[in-house]
Amino acid sequence: MMSSLLCKKCNGDVQRVSDTSWDDVTGQFKFNCKECGTLFLLTEKKGLQEIKEYKDLPEGVHIGDSTEMKDIQDNSVDLVVTSSPYNVDKEYETGMTLREWDDLLSSVMGECDKKMKKDSRACFNIVGINRKPYVPLFNHIINFSEKLSWQMRGIVLWMKNVAKVSTGWGSHMSASDPVLRDNHEIILVFQKGNFTEEKKNSGIFSEEFTEFTNAEWYFGADKASDVGHPAPFPDELVRRCVLLYTDIGDTVLDPFLGSATTVKVCNYLKRKGIGYEINEDYLPVIRKRLQEPLVIQSKATEMHYLLEAKMPDVADLSTSNLKKECERLGSTRAKNMNRFQLVNEYIRLKNQPSLTKYMMFDYIKNV
Ligand SMILES: C[S@@+](CC[C@H](N)C(=O)[O-])C[C@H]1O[C@@H](n2cnc3c(N)ncnc32)[C@H](O)[C@@H]1O
Repeated sequence: MMSSLLCKKCNGDVQRVSDTSWDDVTGQFKFNCKECGTLFLLTEKKGLQEIKEYKDLPEGVHIGDSTEMKDIQDNSVDLVVTSSPYNVDKEYETGMTLREWDDLLSSVMGECDKKMKKDSRACFNIVGINRKPYVPLFNHIINFSEKLSWQMRGIVLWMKNVAKVSTGWGSHMSASDPVLRDNHEIILVFQKGNFTEEKKNSGIFSEEFTEFTNAEWYFGADKASDVGHPAPFPDELVRRCVLLYTDIGDTVLDPFLGSATTVKVCNYLKRKGIGYEINEDYLPVIRKRLQEPLVIQSKATEMHYLLEAKMPDVADLSTSNLKKECERLGSTRAKNMNRFQLVNEYIRLKNQPSLTKYMMFDYIKNV
C-alpha cells in the first residue's frame, strides 16, 4: 500500500519520514514527497492528507499531537485542565485498545510535566468506562501521576444532571445483575512540587470559594450537538478549576483541547489559555466557541451579584419567571439568555449596572 503512494501535489513518490511506536498507536504516519517536499499525514480514515501550516490560529490554539508540545516553553505552565479521550469509541478515538490509551495518557502526562512549573497543579476530568467489567480509567491516571511524583490534592465529584440518568439498569428489581448508572464524572486534582504556592490575585469571590472547595460540584454538561464536538467541557468546569488554582495572568494548558473551552474560559478570566488539538476538523468549532459568551452555572456567583445589587430575593425566582420579569421590564433579548445572563439582565433593568467581573463580560458581548 505504502509503495504506491503518490504526492497529491506533483504526483512524485512519497516516503515515510517518522517511524516511532507512537505512529502505530495513533494510526497516523508522516510522509514527505521526494520531489516537492510537501509533508503528508497518512491515516486509515482519511488516507494521505497534506500537513498544513496554520497561520491564522486563534491565540493559544495549536493543531497537533500533544505527546510533543514543541510550541510551549518548558516550566511555563501554572495549571493543566483537561479531559482526555475516554476510549469509548467517540469519533476521535475509534479503534484504541486500553494499552494504546495508556500509552497516549502516560506520554501526554509526561509532556505536560515538562511544560509545568516546578510548583503547579493539574486537573484531569475522567470517568470509569464499561460495566462487565467496569474499567476505572482514573486509576490508570493516578498510577501515571505517581511515576511523575505528582501528589493528589483531592477528587471532585461532578454531578452532571440528576434528571437525566439513563434507564440501563440491567436486571430491573432483581439482584441477579443490577447495573450502576453513572450520573457523575470525576476531576482528579494533582500537585506537582509544593502544595503551597505564592498566589495573590485569583479574582474569586468569597461565595464562590466556599462553593468550589466543596468537592461535590452540581452543574449540567454541555450538549455535544450545541457545541459541535462530541465531548465538550461545560465552561463552568474549567472556570472553577481556574479560579481555584490560578491567579490572573497565569498560564493554563489543555493538551486535549477539543472545542477549546479551556482557552475560551481563560480569555474571560484573564489567564493565558493554551492547548493542543490533534484534529484540524474542530477548527471551525473552536473559532465559534471562542466567540460565545461565558456560561456560568453557579448559585454562589449568582448570589454574589444579587447581594451586590441588594436583590437576594431574586435567587428564588425560577428561570422562566425571571425571563418573564425581564421581558415585562422591556428586555428584547431575554428570550435567548441562560440563567446567569438573565440575572445580569434583571439587575441591569432594575439598577445602573455595577460592571464587575462577569457583568463586564456580558456587557462586552452584548454591545
Ligand atoms: C474529551 S475531548 C476534549 C474536549 C474538550 N475538553 C472540550 O471542551 O471540547 C478529547 C480531545 O482530545 C483530542 N485528542 C486526542 N488525542 C490527541 C493528541 N494526541 N493530541 C492532541 N489532541 C488529541 C481529540 O481529538 C478530542 O478533541
